[in-house]
Amino acid sequence: MIKVNENYAKLKASYLFSDIAKRVSGYMDVNPDNKVIKLGIGDVTKPLTPACLEAFHRAVDDMANEETFRGYGPEQGYAFLRDAIAINDFGSRGCDISADEIFISDGSKCDTGNIQEIFSTDCVIAVPDPVYPVYVDTNVMAGRTGIWRDGRYEGLVYLDSTNENGFVPAPPAEKADVIYLCFPNNPTGATATEKQLKAWVDYALANDALILFDAAYVAFIRDEKIPHSIYEIDGARECAIEFRSFSKTAGFTGTRCAYTVIPKECRGFSASGEKIELHAIWNRRHSTKFNGVSYPVQRAAEAVYSEAGKKEVKDLIDYYLNNAKIIRGKMEALGYTCYGGENSPYIWIEGGMDSWDFFDLLLNKAEVVCTPGSGFGKCGEGFIRISAFNSLENVNEAMGRIEKALK
Ligand code: MLT
Repeated sequence: MIKVNENYAKLKASYLFSDIAKRVSGYMDVNPDNKVIKLGIGDVTKPLTPACLEAFHRAVDDMANEETFRGYGPEQGYAFLRDAIAINDFGSRGCDISADEIFISDGSKCDTGNIQEIFSTDCVIAVPDPVYPVYVDTNVMAGRTGIWRDGRYEGLVYLDSTNENGFVPAPPAEKADVIYLCFPNNPTGATATEKQLKAWVDYALANDALILFDAAYVAFIRDEKIPHSIYEIDGARECAIEFRSFSKTAGFTGTRCAYTVIPKECRGFSASGEKIELHAIWNRRHSTKFNGVSYPVQRAAEAVYSEAGKKEVKDLIDYYLNNAKIIRGKMEALGYTCYGGENSPYIWIEGGMDSWDFFDLLLNKAEVVCTPGSGFGKCGEGFIRISAFNSLENVNEAMGRIEKALK
């Protein structure tokens, strides 16, 4: 008899963004001629920049010649990309990360979802609330939680992120083994200070715990005082894994390229308490289950670090940050309390009503898609998230419609 993994039965029926897509397509079926503006899922709309495209094209041409053709690449990624990342994303910020501590992959969703495979099933997991659903669902699938009750899974430690703590939770009183942190935060747009991150690193070191630091939105940081990497904090090499992505940084959501950093000192423990290098375990897992990102995509990602690429990518992010400013400004002018949108593409808005009701109101009255805050967790109830990823024209039109609908 083929028995299934019954942990899947504990999951809510579908993934948040699939739920939203279903509601939107239901609306569009009934109103096929209307233009719905999507400010829901954080998916980029601007094309790849010229430097990336040129490198991409060149690499495709390499594949057309026997002399330059590439077959399987190294599972961990090509040296040209890993070197560029180590120098530009870490060396430039004073972080000691070497190229061989970087694993190139096809996305941070996959990496943050897959990483839990290398931890024991009895690890206690802590997640922020609200939270990017992938951190939670993958641990449910793996059997690290009990059932879903009153809007939460039993067995998880939830770190309430509310306006009282500026959406940056402090380490809990109880013991957690694995802690997911995301800054700039999805969905609240909050950023963490060096002092706040230091408290987490100290907690992880004191409790033999591990921080999984998702920095997918790092390119949106414009305030230089805000740490860009967990490795800017002393001691983090021993107790933190960091995830980065080219998706939001350089428009690679459809192209797929990301990376995970696991320093050599980063440790887990055997049942008998002996230290084990997580880098070695992840390397084993990665080389068994992953065959690398395609050569042209890695060349395109490398071009992000060229002089032209750096400027283009900064302009790209500035474009979305300008959208974010418009969204936040308009919502505040309408009397809503807003967070984020300054070093982040997401604006977190206190709606003063049920999140899904607000979502439906905006869809039906303004034909604008947002993301209901409650989809990210109990503490997200009463909020909506609006994403700045769309064209300036669509953002202006959407905000005009929202103003009309809410006034
Ligand atoms: C989001 O909208 O939260 C993100 O786009 C989801 C993702 O990156 O997978």
